[in-house]
Order: sequence, then structure tokens, then C-alpha cells
Amino acid sequence: MSIKGTVTLPGDKSLSHRALIFAAMSNGESQISNLSDGNDVMSTRECLEHCGIKIFDKGQTTFVRGGSFTDPTVDLNCGNSGTTTRLLLGVLAGKGINARFIGDQSLSSRPMDRILDPLTKMGLKSNSNDGKLPISIFKSDLNGISHNSLIPSAQIKSAILLAGIEANGETSTTESILSRNHTEIMLKKLGATLSTNNLTNTISKSSLSSLINFNVPGDPSTSSFFSTAAILLPNSSISIKNILLNPTRIGFYKIIEKMGAKLSYLNEKITFGEQIGSLTIVSSNLKSVNISKTDVPGLIDELPLIALLATQANGTTKVRDAEELRFKECDRIKAICKNLINMGANIKELDDGFIIKGPTPLKATKIKTYGDHRIAMTFAIAGLISKEEIELDNPDCVSISFPKFYQELERLKK
Ligand code: S3P
Repeated sequence: MSIKGTVTLPGDKSLSHRALIFAAMSNGESQISNLSDGNDVMSTRECLEHCGIKIFDKGQTTFVRGGSFTDPTVDLNCGNSGTTTRLLLGVLAGKGINARFIGDQSLSSRPMDRILDPLTKMGLKSNSNDGKLPISIFKSDLNGISHNSLIPSAQIKSAILLAGIEANGETSTTESILSRNHTEIMLKKLGATLSTNNLTNTISKSSLSSLINFNVPGDPSTSSFFSTAAILLPNSSISIKNILLNPTRIGFYKIIEKMGAKLSYLNEKITFGEQIGSLTIVSSNLKSVNISKTDVPGLIDELPLIALLATQANGTTKVRDAEELRFKECDRIKAICKNLINMGANIKELDDGFIIKGPTPLKATKIKTYGDHRIAMTFAIAGLISKEEIELDNPDCVSISFPKFYQELERLKK
């Protein structure tokens, strides 16, 4: 079997969340097309609607009437989405909204104190379940702070900046390694008073203009599953058009290039400050690679795929400094290691990553997805190179980011 053709991707998930949220914060009507149709972005949309924001679709375009937020009369259900919870905590804290945030079992076990601590320093009154959901926030007057984030996280950075846009005085946030920078790029485009100095972003009170005809480019994180299949299956060749190529999002492609993957990408245009282009990728022989601290933020969501690729690469691959993987939709270090061991890979679990010796054949087994979309998709791809079919315990969880994942994969199979 091989995969061939042009991949149709959903709109980038990070940009889709932000487009909806920033449109809601702006004064006026925004038009957004190619929004991600995954459940996570739907959670953001529904939470905004519960806060009084009018959102409606006409054909492929989503219209958002921004401006005034009101207290929701129901709990804000963020589903499985960390980005929804963390970004909206910042926005609603800044807007002085009273709200209660809830989520599914996975989201309710994820740390939110990384957001609540800085917001509390800014003056937010809240209560939580020991730093986790459910979280209630209460109308508070916020003051700017200067925050140093030990964890490089776009969600932490974004929550602080989004609260800072309404706070008294200046708010600045510094990270140790650059995480995805969509929030700062888009806020600047929309007229926010925001400056970037190396790893520090500083914002002060500003109003945002609406998003006019924003077309969300394809998601490079979703594309990485198809790219992995193309590399691993002989005689494969795929191309991807209109894909987001922001340098903070293509760490996966840089690393697989080092491993020997035959790929090329072309920057074609800049829209709303974001680089967009096309990508082609063909079957390749791989060698091992070492991944450490400075690499991790740029490929945090793609590390399950690096593990899969490493099982087929010559040599020993080490992934270190990736402890953040334990706090994603599931403990991804555990999920990767347990499932790959069951498939016959030579993998050793570390506190902050894993060591994989390759190449080893993979045999089909039952896969525990932990309800995590990226684990489900990774092992669906692993199943393409195992002799028999693998069985996922919860295949439907791919709907979090790409409901049509299996159809698209079937369409490309030759
Ligand atoms: C995201 C940031 C990342 C990433 C998540 C989406 C975002 O989380 O894992 O899937 O859109 O800001 P962290 O920045 O917290 O690592």
C-alpha cells in the first residue's frame, strides 16, 4: 500500500480558536472562512455564544459580531479543549465576566494553576478545584504584571496578554523558549498596543479592529499524520497546499528533514502576518535524531509521530526535556510508550521523554487511545505499517481536531 495525492486539510486549530476569540473581542463584524470543524473549535464557539457573542454561518464563511460580552447563564463547557479554557480564562477575566468553566474528564485533570496564578496576581478573584476545573471567576479590576513563564507555552502567554489588553497599566510576559506566536502576530495586526522584544511581549489597554475575510490556512499539525504515512509507506508521494508554515509550527518538518525525510516546502504568501505555502513529501529512509529543550515547543503536538518514525529509523532516537507531554489531553509519554511496546518497538520511557532503538517491525495490537485525538491518529498511521489491522479503543476521538481524518486517509490510499 502507498498514499498518493493532494491532502485536504482542515483550517489550523490554533488559528481557528484565535480568529473566533479575537473577532469576538473586536468592535464590529468579522468574516472567517475555513475554520477548523473539530470539536475543540466548536467548544470555543459555543462558549463565546454563551457570553452573548452572535456567531452565524453563511455558506463556508463564519460571521462574528464582536463587542459586548455578558455573564453566561450556564456553565462554559470547554469539552476537551485546553486552548478554549486557557485563552477564555484570560479574556473573560479581563472583561470582568462572572463565569464557571467546566470540561470533560481529561480537561478536568489538566493543570490550570499556570493560568490562574498569574491572573490572580493581576487581581482576579476566582476559585478552582485545587488549580483544576471546575473554575469560577468573578468580576475583578485587573492590573498589569510582569510575568516570567518557566514553561514555554503559547496558552499561558496568550491568557496573560488577553487579560492584559483590558488591565490597568502594562502587562508583560516572558518565556524561556519561543512557543507558537499566533496571538502576538494577530493581535498586532488587529491594532493592539503590543510590542515584542526577544522573548518578552508587552501589551497595554487597546481596542481591536475586526477580521476582514480571514481565510484560515491548513493545519500543519494535522498534515504531519499524512506526512508520516507518506514517509513510511513505499512509493508514496503527497502534496499539501495552503498550509500554515509559521516558523514556530514547523519544528516537526525540520526534525524529520534531519532524519532524512525527502520533503520540500515553499513559502508562497503572508496573510495576516502568517506564512502560508505548500509542502510535498515522499517515501524516505530515516536515521535517528536527538531532540532536546529548544526543539520541544516547536513540535510539542507532533512528538507521538516522531516516536513512531523513530521505530522505523536506523539508530537510537532520544527525546528529552518533553515533560509537558505528560500534561496534554492524556499523559502522552505513557500513551506512546505503552502502545509502542505492545506493538513490539524497542522503547524506554523516561520522566521527560523516551529512547527508541530502530528499526523494528511493528505488530498489530489493541491500542489504548486514552480518548486523545493525536494518539488515535498516530496509531491509525502505525496500523498502516503493521502486518494485520490494529484496533483503536476509541477511534472517534479524532473528531477533536479532524472529524474527516479516516475518510481523507482512505481517499489517499492507493
Ligand atoms: C496551543 C498551544 C500548545 C499546543 C496546543 C495548542 C495553542 O499548548 O499543545 O495543542 O493553540 O496555543 P502549550 O502552548 O500550552 O504547550
